[in-house]
Amino acid sequence: MDTTGIPHPPRRVPFLGDVFGVNPRTPVQDTVRLGRALGPVFTRKVFGTEIVFVSDPALVAELNDETKFGKHVALGVANLRAIAGDGLFTAHDYEPNWQLAHDILQPAFTLEAMRGYHSIMVEVAAELTRSWDAAVEGGDAVDVAADMTKLTLETIGRTGFGYRFGSFERERPHPFVVAMTRALRYAQVQSVKLPFVRRLIGGTAAANKADIATMNELVDEVISARRPGEGEDLLARMLAGPHPVTGQRLDPVNIRNQVITFIVAGHETTSGALSFALYYLTRNPDALAKARAEVDAMWGGQRDPEPTFAEVTKLRYVRRVLDEALRLWPTAPGYLRGAREDVVLGGRYPMRAGDQALVMLPLLHRDPGVWGPDPDAFDPDRFGPGEAKKRPAHAYKPFGTGERACIGRQFAIHEAVLALGLVLYRYEFVPEPDYELRIAESLTLKTDGFRLGLRPRAERAAEFVSESAHRGGA
Ligand code: HEM
Repeated sequence: MDTTGIPHPPRRVPFLGDVFGVNPRTPVQDTVRLGRALGPVFTRKVFGTEIVFVSDPALVAELNDETKFGKHVALGVANLRAIAGDGLFTAHDYEPNWQLAHDILQPAFTLEAMRGYHSIMVEVAAELTRSWDAAVEGGDAVDVAADMTKLTLETIGRTGFGYRFGSFERERPHPFVVAMTRALRYAQVQSVKLPFVRRLIGGTAAANKADIATMNELVDEVISARRPGEGEDLLARMLAGPHPVTGQRLDPVNIRNQVITFIVAGHETTSGALSFALYYLTRNPDALAKARAEVDAMWGGQRDPEPTFAEVTKLRYVRRVLDEALRLWPTAPGYLRGAREDVVLGGRYPMRAGDQALVMLPLLHRDPGVWGPDPDAFDPDRFGPGEAKKRPAHAYKPFGTGERACIGRQFAIHEAVLALGLVLYRYEFVPEPDYELRIAESLTLKTDGFRLGLRPRAERAAEFVSESAHRGGA
């Protein structure tokens, strides 16, 4: 892309480029800071690799136009191919396996399929509340991001592949999780050009190879233990008969890539969203009261509610809380679009076919022209009835866009609203008073060091109801 005239950070250094002001551990937050100063289109060049960041809603709408642009697999996403190969998330549009896997897996994400996963989601949410009940007993504060990651990992493991990681029973993370966390960090820092920084943060190539082998071995075991025709989960669909139209099947390596893709893509993003939602609720008493009122109206008086599928879909305010958390900190903070043909973006920025631009979601989601004078304020009512229609269609894109948008969107929303609703109903939150939001960046964003003290609540609600029933009967 011709970047002449596009602003870049000050202090560009010959050969090195724009290396000041961006820490390899916090690239997203630093880029947000840069973007605030440089405007809705800016560029950053590091060792000859240049990225154009876009957050202007009209330009994003154009980048989302599927006739002109498509998903571009480069930079961070391309680095993930070492882990997930041609799995759905990392496949190029032109790889035949993308369409094949998409067709085979799409039915696993319909509303009907979600109903099928609901009871497992409830089971795992109950494991979370059991472990939080134990923390209440012990007077311990909980590490929110860590526990939400256990929840989402268990949920995708069981709903997707019938595999239990045992996250809530283990003292230490499952070896797969250890290997995956390291492998993701390794992949992320491959874009850093200085070898010693890469090794310092990401470890060695040999260790990474061993981590990937650990992940593959476990996945291969899970696949080979599955008997034909067993289950109705993602794995069963991938192993089932050939594609109804083309007659093709997914090959074993691709199935392995998809399993790893779903584990990676299907848990950190959702757990981060839950952590941010809880963080903002503890800082916004009005929103917390509204969310509580909703769950109390739904389950009031029940000691251990077991939410039905329909009840979860009726928690509209809790859903707004989640939407608003994903606005402020979209846990997949950007996506890359590539020009399908020569085009002049916004009539101003000439792009050749194959040129790329990165949609920078935290900036798009805080554009004052769309979100008003206080875009940093947490306000779930921005997602109240009719509100979205007042905004440009492409102003809010936490799940990406077009045919390569998130296949797991409904899955994530159902899982997260269910868990959030239950913990809101059950616990009084006691945040650490001095905590200020810190964000850990890996492939995704999540809260760092956010701990919550907990006190029981449902018991009180139950007592209240039984007391009033008693009074009524006297
Ligand atoms: C809050 C939670 C989530 C967020 C914010 C999120 C966000 C995203 C985004 C932005 C993309 C597009 C990336 C791009 O264009 O490069 C994407 C793709 C994808 N997501 Fe999610 N995701 C979430 C949860 C999930 C879950 C729960 C699953 C699986 C159960 C999942 C599976 C996938 C897959 C497989 C793709 C690639 C789709 C394709 O290209 O065909 N995601 N996600």
